[in-house]
Amino acid sequence: MTENGTDAAIAGPSRTEITTPEVIEEEVRTDASLRPERLDEFIGQAKVKESLSVYVEAALGRGEALDHTLFYGPPGLGKTTLALLLAHELGVNIKLTSGPVLEKPGDLAGLLTNLGPRDILFIDEIHRLRPVIEEFLYPAMEDYRIEIRLGDGPRVETFSMKLERFTLVGATTRFGLLTAPMRARFGVVERLGFYPTDELGEIVTRSAGLLDIPVTTDGAGEIARRARGTPRIANRLLRRVRDYAEVRSDGTIDAPTAVDGLTLLNVDEYGLDEMDARVLRAIIETFDGGPVGLNSLAVAVGEDAGTLEEVYEPYLIQNGYLQRTSRGRAATKKAYERFGYALPAADGEQGALFGDDG
Ligand SMILES: Nc1ncnc2c1ncn2[C@@H]1O[C@H](COP(=O)(O)OP(=O)(O)O)[C@@H](O)[C@H]1O
Ligand SMILES: [Mg+2]
Repeated sequence: MTENGTDAAIAGPSRTEITTPEVIEEEVRTDASLRPERLDEFIGQAKVKESLSVYVEAALGRGEALDHTLFYGPPGLGKTTLALLLAHELGVNIKLTSGPVLEKPGDLAGLLTNLGPRDILFIDEIHRLRPVIEEFLYPAMEDYRIEIRLGDGPRVETFSMKLERFTLVGATTRFGLLTAPMRARFGVVERLGFYPTDELGEIVTRSAGLLDIPVTTDGAGEIARRARGTPRIANRLLRRVRDYAEVRSDGTIDAPTAVDGLTLLNVDEYGLDEMDARVLRAIIETFDGGPVGLNSLAVAVGEDAGTLEEVYEPYLIQNGYLQRTSRGRAATKKAYERFGYALPAADGEQGALFGDDG
């Protein structure tokens, strides 16, 4: 859609080129109309925004490329959005690719050699780069050159090729899986956290405005409360509730309409998703409330331990459903109450977790 910068949705001098169809194009398209294009339209993440605006201004002032930048955090919080938005702020082109689709150094060489001065190369899921690609990327990031190998075996010839000074923007949901040398090569590392309800409410209101959906502040608030701290989920719920409002009422999303629509959609009123519920139920039912080790828990719910730890747990911990203790994960009183389980007798270590009333 944006091959020649002809898409009106992408304004300004920068050009977005999507180089890996499957994953990213789909993602970029779905919410293209809702993506903030400038830093000051990006809601929340005040600290991240503040740092980025300083780095952008400094880079522009010096006429230099922005330092290589890494965004990490759970899915749907704005990593891709920030990468695209940086290109706009810097007035440079951006090429988008993703760790798993880069198979051989040649795939990356083609991208790198086509970058203009100060352009951005965005690599999503950068923790999934193959080691050989990673090795190939290091000199590119550090010295703006790549080593090209011609031929194979004893007759292999290598030569070095110079690149423009570019910015690599990486995104990952799994910071822990990035290799140390990779991490060390990013000058800017920013973590995105879950959004508080009031900020999500603002995001819902903004998206509703862009999509021409009438929504009251309370209606936006109801959607926000159930969005698991995640803008992508908030936008998705907004669209679903719009359908409900159009069919069942006059189209305006006020609080009662939002509540009814979300109930009909089976959206958990505490903002928990299916995996959250599985994790908490498993701790309570299978492991007597915990503590249980990460790996046992992962097996019980059929999810990879690392994903559990970096994608699901942060939300549950932040919202008081789960505790991480030295002996493993434990369900809190709030988790028992949420799922309607009777609290276990308050003794031993388990009881201590609920210990605010002695
Ligand atoms: N801070 C924000 N303000 C407004 N909308 C946002 C914000 N962060 C994310 N979004 C919306 O949520 C969607 C998901 O964001 P995205 O950048 O794709 O997340 P990630 O790359 O971290 O998975 C985007 O399409 C965008 O519309
Ligand atoms: Mg993304």
